[in-house]
Amino acid sequence: MEQHGSESFFVIGEGLLGEVAGGREPTVVLPPDVAAITPPFRFSRLGPKGTGKQLNETNRKKIGSLMAASTGGQGQIPAGFTYIGQFTDHDLTFDKTSVTLGDKLSPAQLVQARSPSLDLDSLYGAGPADPESTKFYEADGLHLRTGKSKAAGGFAALDGFDLPRGAGTTNAQKRTAIIPDPRNDENLAVAQTHCAMIRFHNRVVDTQLGGVPQSQKFITARKIVTKHYQWMLRSDYLPRICASGVVNDVFTNGRKAFEVGVPATQVPTMPIEFSVACFRLGHSMVRAVYQWNKVFDDASGSPGALEYLFEFSALGGDLGGQTRLLSTWLADFRRLYDFGEANKPGLEVPPNKFNRAMRIDTSIVDPLKHLPPSIVGGPDSMPFNDPDRNLAFRNLTRANMVTLATGQQMASFLTGKGVTLTKLTSAQIRDGQGGVKLDTLTENQRQALVQNTPLWFYILREAELNAGRLKGVGARIVAETFHRAIEGSQFSIVNDASFHPTLGPDNSTFRMVDLLLFAFEGKKSLLAPLE
Ligand code: HEM
Repeated sequence: MEQHGSESFFVIGEGLLGEVAGGREPTVVLPPDVAAITPPFRFSRLGPKGTGKQLNETNRKKIGSLMAASTGGQGQIPAGFTYIGQFTDHDLTFDKTSVTLGDKLSPAQLVQARSPSLDLDSLYGAGPADPESTKFYEADGLHLRTGKSKAAGGFAALDGFDLPRGAGTTNAQKRTAIIPDPRNDENLAVAQTHCAMIRFHNRVVDTQLGGVPQSQKFITARKIVTKHYQWMLRSDYLPRICASGVVNDVFTNGRKAFEVGVPATQVPTMPIEFSVACFRLGHSMVRAVYQWNKVFDDASGSPGALEYLFEFSALGGDLGGQTRLLSTWLADFRRLYDFGEANKPGLEVPPNKFNRAMRIDTSIVDPLKHLPPSIVGGPDSMPFNDPDRNLAFRNLTRANMVTLATGQQMASFLTGKGVTLTKLTSAQIRDGQGGVKLDTLTENQRQALVQNTPLWFYILREAELNAGRLKGVGARIVAETFHRAIEGSQFSIVNDASFHPTLGPDNSTFRMVDLLLFAFEGKKSLLAPLE
């Protein structure tokens, strides 16, 4: 079974770190001959090791538990960005060998397949020509397959609004999404985001390929989609979560710390500092409850609790016992993204229907303390309060597992590379600004945390003190890793400076709302099908 999260990390120059925890299986099981010649997903270590600086288990449990108190409230970022963030994380960390084993791959291809890039392989797999990936495509080899929701609550079954599902004979098989990366069916919000990306691709196929020779159609569509997606990430997503000065600096002047000066064609790696800490920032953006759609909101008396978003997916739950998504659960994208930004007042909802992400800070919402066992790879009988179900504890523990550098170490490391940043003071780390409260830690526990701050905690404190936007260490690591992952993609706006978006309002604007407007033809009936 596919899992969310690496159990072990193959770090270049260090080998395999960590172990397979109880009940979890590796993400991809390779035939022995292939396994023998290819490393698992390629991580690297950007900074120094945090030897002798890790928090002990008691402290991690306590801090993890305190962090899950959701103290910080909501921020300004529309909640949809949480899940395009999660989608992007899966794109970055997708191990393509799971979809390319049908072909005889060269060692170089294997290395590429297990490397981070922002090339939408989690959407495309290895392309329609690859035997393992044809199942993601329509018979024309151009359109991505979609699924049909199931009529419910007076709402009709709708084609194109669910993930494609349905292979096999058992209900569990039938509900399994037929998409390259099953993690995109881990909760309903990321699943509906994946559906939107499928729709985006299909719309490009339908409208942008006039005059393109048949043999070039798919690759041309993929190129258009990927570069627009990268443009959106660079110009819309990143500046929302990171100090925009840092994003602009990295994309204008290049990287200072990560794989500096390597040829663009060299296959990138994934810094463990990004994967184990900094990009887990998204966990603090997750809400406990969503004004999900007309059927599931406060007004209906039954808002879209996060637990339901797990339940109505096939990895985090069992699709509510169904084999297809019930129409009552279809997303209302107007509640997740602000179409006022694109000057579409007809697609705006009243403030009390709109969802903002939780502020990026040191707190996460309570339901993330009790993740479904299926998400963390535990048995169904896992106790409700088992710390292994707490995402904060898990994140802190992963850092331990790979002896991750602390926030302070990374701040010094980056400064040494010429990055300008201000280190957090001990008082800032201790007190923050409306995030986790550390009063109930013992003096020793608090001292350990303040002196050797786990990187995840540190970058969240930085954001908390910067009105909910990454700064300093966190912003630099996230922006540089994205830059490299775009540079290392087959299609890349970093390598092709002449690219400008053609599917937005002008040739320098392509935001997430523009992506959705294009994909859903600007129609309310598609963006909010229950209205
Ligand atoms: C409801 C939403 C989410 C859930 C339930 C969730 C759950 C998880 C879990 C269980 C892990 C593995 C933890 C471990 O054992 O190490 C993980 C890893 C991770 N998550 Fe999330 N996550 C969510 C949203 C996000 C978002 C929004 C982002 C970023 C914007 C994100 C970024 C990451 C990263 C970078 C990792 C490590 C790499 C990977 O395995 O993908 N997650 N998440």
